[in-house]
Amino acid sequence: MFNIIKLEEVDSTNEWVKRNKGKFSDLDGVFAKVQTRGKGRGKNKWFSPPGGLWFSTMIEKFPSTKGALSQLSCVVIADVLEQYKLNVELKWPNDIIFSSKKLGGILIERINESFIIGIGLNLNIELLTFPLELRDKVITSFEVLKKEIPIEEICLEILKKISQWIKNLNRVYLRYLGLNCDLGRKVKLISSKGEIIGQVIRIEKDGGILINSEGKENTYYSGSLVYT
Ligand code: BTN
Repeated sequence: MFNIIKLEEVDSTNEWVKRNKGKFSDLDGVFAKVQTRGKGRGKNKWFSPPGGLWFSTMIEKFPSTKGALSQLSCVVIADVLEQYKLNVELKWPNDIIFSSKKLGGILIERINESFIIGIGLNLNIELLTFPLELRDKVITSFEVLKKEIPIEEICLEILKKISQWIKNLNRVYLRYLGLNCDLGRKVKLISSKGEIIGQVIRIEKDGGILINSEGKENTYYSGSLVYT
C-alpha cells in the first residue's frame, strides 16, 4: 500500500520530492542512505551520514495548518520510536529529544497545496561520527540502545501511522502536549524577527506557542527555543 523509494545517495530527500513531484503520490516515501546537502530548519545544514533515517513524504491535502502537521509528524515519530523502546520528548516546533539532546528533527516545506515532510532521525550512528561541534548537542538511538534498529521498517511504520493519526487531530494535539518538554519553561525564542525571552504558557492546536515576556503574552509560529 505504501510505496517507498530507496536511494543510495541524494542531495536532500525533500529536494528529490520537489524534483519528482509528478511521480510521487500522497504518502509515498523516499529514503536515502546518505544526503550530501541535507537541509535543517532555518537554512541550517543537516549532517546525514549512513545509518540515519533521512526520509521524506508528501501530503497533498492536509486539513489544517503547517503547525498542526508538525505536531502530527512529531507524535507519529514518538509513537513509532516507542515501539523500539526509545521514549522521546518533543520540543517546539518539531525537535525529537532524548535525554535533553536532539535525536531528530522535521523540515516541512509547502509547495502550492502540498506539504513535504522531511524527517531526519539519528539512528544507527556512532556519536564519534558527528563533527565535534555537534557531539554534545545530539544523541543517536545506537548510543542509547547499543544495537541497530531497522530503518526501512521504521519508514513504513511512519507512513502507516500518519495515515491513522491524521484522522484525529484532536487526539494528536493532546498527545503532543503530553510529550512536550517546553511548557512552563523559561526560554529564549530566536526567529528571523529577533529574540525574545519569556516563559512558555501554552502550545496551541494550530502549532503556535504562547510566550509571556515581561507581562505581555504573544503567540509565535516560527523560530527555535533555547532554554535559559
Ligand atoms: C531540523 O533542523 O531539525 C530539521 C531537520 C530535517 C532533516 C531531514 S533529513 C530528510 C529531509 N531532507 C532534508 O534535506 N532535510 C530533511
